[in-house]
Amino acid sequence: MNLVDKAEKTFVLTTPLYYVNDIPHIGSAYTTIAADVVARFQRLQGNKVLLITGTDEHGQKIERSAATLGKAPQEFCDQIVPSFISLWEVLNIQYDRFSRTTDPRHHAIVQEFFSRVWENGDIYQGQQKGWYCVSCEEFKEERELLDGKRCPIHTTKEVEWRDEQNYFFRLSKYQTKLEEFYQSHPDFIQPASRRNEVLSFVSQGLQDFSISRVNLDWGFPVPVDSKHTLYVWFDALLGYVTALLEPDAEPNLTNALERWWPINLHLIGKDILRFHAVYWPAMLMSAGLSLPERVFGHGFLTKDGQKMGKTLGNTLDPVGLVKRYGSDSVRYYFLKEIEFGKDGDFNEIRFINVLNADLANDLGNLLNRTLNMVKKYCAGNVPSIVQEAIPANNPLKAIGLTLGERVKQAYEALAFNQSCEAVLSLVQASNKFIDDQAPWSLYKQGKQEEVEAVLYTVLESVRLAAYLLSPIIPNISGDIYQQLGWKIDFNDQKESLIVAPFATHATWGILSNQQQLGTPQPIFKRIETPKTD
Ligand code: MSP
Repeated sequence: MNLVDKAEKTFVLTTPLYYVNDIPHIGSAYTTIAADVVARFQRLQGNKVLLITGTDEHGQKIERSAATLGKAPQEFCDQIVPSFISLWEVLNIQYDRFSRTTDPRHHAIVQEFFSRVWENGDIYQGQQKGWYCVSCEEFKEERELLDGKRCPIHTTKEVEWRDEQNYFFRLSKYQTKLEEFYQSHPDFIQPASRRNEVLSFVSQGLQDFSISRVNLDWGFPVPVDSKHTLYVWFDALLGYVTALLEPDAEPNLTNALERWWPINLHLIGKDILRFHAVYWPAMLMSAGLSLPERVFGHGFLTKDGQKMGKTLGNTLDPVGLVKRYGSDSVRYYFLKEIEFGKDGDFNEIRFINVLNADLANDLGNLLNRTLNMVKKYCAGNVPSIVQEAIPANNPLKAIGLTLGERVKQAYEALAFNQSCEAVLSLVQASNKFIDDQAPWSLYKQGKQEEVEAVLYTVLESVRLAAYLLSPIIPNISGDIYQQLGWKIDFNDQKESLIVAPFATHATWGILSNQQQLGTPQPIFKRIETPKTD
């Protein structure tokens, strides 16, 4: 037995498996950026992390998108999938598994899971009547619809009437069990507003839902009746399980669940909350599997107040945005400016202003001016400081001593904006500290020790800030670290974990005068605001 493996702490998280009806937009990038930040943070904590993303390729929506272009569905999916993979590359996403629901291994997992639920007596045949939104791949209540029988989420799309024989999953049987589970696991659904939404939905009484479709070819056949195709959501959620298989493992549930199950965190948008917080746990209960730890439903990115999306056609091209401004900028803006869990609007001028203020002015200039002063007043060496020489009430040390723990808690709560704000408070205090202390005049007065104490304190603050922001802006953090004399690349998972673990680097006072400072170079170039004439 391998004791090391037994003792390893794992953390598994997922993004949704994205529909491939079109190339990805910034909305799909949003969840994946957040997931990557969590994964990087968890790795710095020393955990073995598995970040799962991928694509959801079956169903009517994809079948129709392919048909519109005169393509076979598989060929169509194969053409779209690379655009997701290359977006993750430009956004500097370090995923571990890319799960495609058309993978033959996934078929095996779905069949086995289906038989467990079937043998448990939770699947039966019935008549499905109702309004169906193909874009959501979901039946809607009549009272939810907008005028003209339009979907409340895909507001330009009319829902379609369906009246057909389907197989149903006995969701109603799990009402009490689910309610008990929500009670005993108050952190299962987050944020609290989403939890309340789910609790209220469930308390109205759960209806069984249909898990098969007729007149649809693009999907897996229902194992017990090949005239029916399995409902895309039943198949898609299981994509998370398939993703857990080691690349060369035989595709069965035992192998899939062996090392990584249960999943620690599902990151999703609020529109697919019900599937993840109600249907999914009930399906897992039926199949006798333990449940995930946490489902977090974030808000929508809007443009001019409307949900950005493929269906409405008001999308923002993430690749273009990254090309113009770089991946760190895009990652930083979305996580710092929008409270994760709430909706947020994108505006390019605001985007530029935030980056200039935080990264170019506050952080970038701070490093640059301090390094230049160190060059001038300390012969370019990190001042040699005994930690006790800086009193605990030094304003920067006072923040720095507890900052690591505060930022850690914010990352754990997925309050990325709070992580950024907490770090910025140290950066801003550092700028103020330099202005107040005026090391240039201390130097003129011959107060070398004081000059050195001021400059050390500020450099150490910049270092700590860079480290704590490294899950969000790994490139900039790496550049700062290099200028401070470390050879650390925060994109190198193994290296940054071994060389810069959170337990040491998130604490105050590790900068030493053994570090050979690099040449001061701007770490973030100010962005010019585009002319608006
Ligand atoms: N295929 C399903 C998920 C299956 S998971 C087993 C799906 N795909 S999707 O491509 O339509 O959406 C994926 C995610 O992108 C959802 O979490 C959705 O909330 C998110 N977003 C789509 N548009 C968005 C915005 N405008 N803003 C933020 N996120 C949005 O649903």
